[in-house]
Amino acid sequence: MPFAHITGWGMYVPEPVLTNDDISKMVDTNDEWIRDRTGIRERHIAREHEFPSTLGVEAAVKALQVANLAPTDLDLIICTSSSPEYIFPATACIIQDQIGATKAGAFDLQAACTGFIFAINMAAQAIRSGSIKSALVVGTEVLSRFVNWKDRNTCILFGDGAGAFVLQASDIPGGVMSAVMHSDGSGADSLTLLGGGSHYPASEMTIHEGKHFVQMDGKEVFRFATRVMGRAVVEALEQIKLTTNDIQWIIPHQANYRIIDTAAKYLKMPLDKFVINVDRYGNTSTASIPIATVEAVQKGQLKTGDKAVFVGFGGGLTWGAMVVEWSGPILAKKHVHPEQYRRFARLRSFIRRAIRFIEGFFSRKEL
Ligand code: ACO
Repeated sequence: MPFAHITGWGMYVPEPVLTNDDISKMVDTNDEWIRDRTGIRERHIAREHEFPSTLGVEAAVKALQVANLAPTDLDLIICTSSSPEYIFPATACIIQDQIGATKAGAFDLQAACTGFIFAINMAAQAIRSGSIKSALVVGTEVLSRFVNWKDRNTCILFGDGAGAFVLQASDIPGGVMSAVMHSDGSGADSLTLLGGGSHYPASEMTIHEGKHFVQMDGKEVFRFATRVMGRAVVEALEQIKLTTNDIQWIIPHQANYRIIDTAAKYLKMPLDKFVINVDRYGNTSTASIPIATVEAVQKGQLKTGDKAVFVGFGGGLTWGAMVVEWSGPILAKKHVHPEQYRRFARLRSFIRRAIRFIEGFFSRKEL
């Protein structure tokens, strides 16, 4: 059975930064309260022309560059997002078209903030089964468009950004070693974005009732997160008979510093074993774990051979953890430039659209 290695990684955040002081001009809050209760100092907010697909493409191209893999070699793209571009088409298909991954099947996976862990696990399983050789997983968010900027309970928390991993098959041991996935729909009400689906199709009433915004019972989510995070880490480690002493890093979902601190106490681990960057990005949902991972690699914290645990939780309710042995770009043979494929992909997409238009024009004439 082949092993599923993480061979490429990339992140992208939009340039504009919104500080706590900026938010305190919009709602009744202040920098000290936000830092005390969440650890967040600032977050990035997408510009008007930026979408989950555009942020995702930037992160994906960087991940392919690190892996030294051509987009045309990808077999699978999974995009996970709590703020997808549309209900359909899948954001994954837009990314597939824009990076020129002509061979890849692409679909979206929805598990709120736990989406990245679930998606990596699905991609790793497909690689281990032998059905594919390479996959791209993208977590990408423009949650700022679903935040009620008049609700101080939620608007202080979220930020925009994207992260991506490339996974590849190899006979060398390592990569994704274990994973646990959990859900509890009885807690679905505590974190929702209800409007625009088939239960509450968009109407004047759904707009009036704020159903197109993230709604959250903060205390309930906090209690849930602190209950499950530590346990999920232990479960993922026990699956492969490891303990916290065997791992170098925990890379948790970045929602709230206090939640991470509680998990550290549960696991009896020092906080300096946790990668934490919630202060600069806020909660970027599905993108938070890959963004934290990329920064840990760039800072020289996470190194080849290290064992790390990714752990996350989110709406649904969902939660999960996974142990990985960090590999690096071990499989590169040729030198590729995903950026050039991207330019070609734009042209290819344009030509295919034009052909579709011409075919449609003539078939209408024939009818
Ligand atoms: N500024 C100032 N005061 C505030 C603010 C604010 N932004 N927000 C709430 N308060 C007030 C409340 O009104 C309350 O006042 P009261 O005592 O007079 O009623 C007081 O501060 C305490 O409010 P709590 O809600 O009890 O504050 P808490 O310490 O629980 O912190 C928070 C709130 C930060 C939202 C916390 O509950 C939390 O982080 N929960 C988890 C949220 C989370 O992680 N969500 C994402 C999940 S992942 C996903 O899938 C998207």
